Amino acid sequence: MASAASSTAPVVTKSKVQGVAPLRAGQGTSFVLRRLHSLSGIVPVGAFLFEHILVSNSTAISGPDAYARQVSFLGNLPLVFFLELFGIWLPIAFHALYGFYIWYRGDGNTIAYPWTGNWMYTAQRWTGGIAFAYIIWHTWTMRFTGVDLHIYPNASFGKVQGEVLQTPLFLFYVAGLIAASWHFAYGIWLFAAKWGIVSGDKARKRFLVVCLAFFFVLTGAGLASLTAFRSRPQQPIEPGTAVTNNKQITESR
Ligand code: HEM
Repeated sequence: MASAASSTAPVVTKSKVQGVAPLRAGQGTSFVLRRLHSLSGIVPVGAFLFEHILVSNSTAISGPDAYARQVSFLGNLPLVFFLELFGIWLPIAFHALYGFYIWYRGDGNTIAYPWTGNWMYTAQRWTGGIAFAYIIWHTWTMRFTGVDLHIYPNASFGKVQGEVLQTPLFLFYVAGLIAASWHFAYGIWLFAAKWGIVSGDKARKRFLVVCLAFFFVLTGAGLASLTAFRSRPQQPIEPGTAVTNNKQITESR
């Protein structure tokens, strides 16, 4: 029932707000967590994905020796376990778990995703979910089971091939790659919009094209690496097996 007060109040028409709303202060803990979630998608999680696909795994294109050298380099970084824990695992766990919470709450902080309708909003959530399933499985099989590649980097190429040469697992790799690449590339666009780095409709449209191009670069590089693993005969996986004569690689620590 309308009250006397409301009948004299100005009529505010509810209009559809276009664009991605900036993250605003004044929302208590939720604001801080939203900012941290947004930032963690770029640094360190996004930075790690960039390195993982475009630098480390691309070395597989140059063959087993180059790949073993890269794995050896990473595995011999000082305090590598803590680098992984604080630089990769915990940030991904935070970003993913808080991401599922945002998804569950239906709380996008984005009132409308412009130009392409809401499918990009939905895709951002589903690609995050697919990437999550892939990351858990991939970390478990590559880092925590089978040959320890930090101790036996020479077995790296063969260990990856052990999965990638099986078609169902290869398809899972491709799905994980496409999902993570899309999520990150479109995530950069979202980040730039929310933090006010790119503003104005025209500039955002142009930046969206840049981000889509980046998606193709990431996916293309990932597919090239996967093809490199599949195009060579299975390399040895046994611990200590030398697939290279490179003396720089330490077989034991
Ligand atoms: C491959 C690892 C991942 C990377 C590199 C990554 C990166 C990003 C980036 C850069 C953003 C944009 C930040 C922003 O919204 O301001 C983002 C958003 C988001 N991420 Fe991730 N992410 C990853 C994994 C995940 C996972 C596993 C989930 C779990 C579902 C997830 C859920 C989300 C959600 C829901 C958003 C959108 C938030 C919103 O629209 O407000 N992400 N991610």
